[in-house]
Amino acid sequence: MIYESVLILKPEMVQIAESARVDSFVKVEGGLGVTIGDCTHVASFCHINGGGGKVTIGRHVGLSSGAKVLGGRAEIMGLSTSAASPPEMQIVTRLHTRIGDYCLIGTNAVVMPGVVMGEGAALGAGGVATKNIPAWEIWAGVPARKIGQRVLSASTPYPVAADAFDIREVTDGVGSYICPICLRVISNSPDVFPRCCGHYMVEKEDWESNQEAWMTARAYEIEKLAKAHRLNV
Ligand SMILES: CC(C)(COP(=O)(O)OP(=O)(O)OC[C@H]1O[C@@H](n2cnc3c(N)ncnc32)[C@H](O)[C@@H]1OP(=O)(O)O)[C@@H](O)C(=O)NCCC(=O)NCCS
Repeated sequence: MIYESVLILKPEMVQIAESARVDSFVKVEGGLGVTIGDCTHVASFCHINGGGGKVTIGRHVGLSSGAKVLGGRAEIMGLSTSAASPPEMQIVTRLHTRIGDYCLIGTNAVVMPGVVMGEGAALGAGGVATKNIPAWEIWAGVPARKIGQRVLSASTPYPVAADAFDIREVTDGVGSYICPICLRVISNSPDVFPRCCGHYMVEKEDWESNQEAWMTARAYEIEKLAKAHRLNV
């Protein structure tokens, strides 16, 4: 969902997944290409692809308000760093900045051009990422340094493969559904449903009558995912 007052420059270079959410007053510069993946939230006043390079943002990423993901820069050895100056007065470098699935970018944080944030990496509020952040690490500060490791708990809503279940089948049904992994109950309202993509759901009735079996399956899924991500649960 793209809210009102989102400014997209070079929209032909921008791909935003249908299940992503882009709040008002966000600016996206198409540049050499921008991709925003499934269920990613871009909060108000974020600026994506300042500098006009290439930015790839994965699935389920949280970009808090005012965060900036840069894709290029005007080099300071150029005479002018103003985009309004004639191009021959500027030296512009365009890079590919990549934000992995499940990343967090805190409010007012800045991801510098070309930086790669691995899966699940977190950049704290106000931090400036000048170097790549390895998967599932927490970095903060200016310049950002490692301050911790992300550890998910057993009650964390884990996604399972999006293709494990055809979401559209469920939206055709009636009544409520429950995600056996995150235990979230979902009605079949089309407004609510797309935000839960990546989870498979079962009918609440089925869940209630086979709860024990579903809880065993849940524990197994969580362990499998935890192993895949080498997390402590
Ligand atoms: C970085 C972050 C994820 C760390 O969370 P956490 O692991 O729970 O960290 P803690 O609160 O336990 O703090 C751990 C240490 O890091 C420091 N720290 C936390 N966030 C920091 C930040 N953004 N910048 C600098 N230092 C920070 C704390 O002061 C603490 O230092 P200390 O051990 O010397 O006291 C979190 O603080 C953050 O910035 N989240 C983004 C929040 C946001 O922007 N929300 C938007 C609305 S959803």
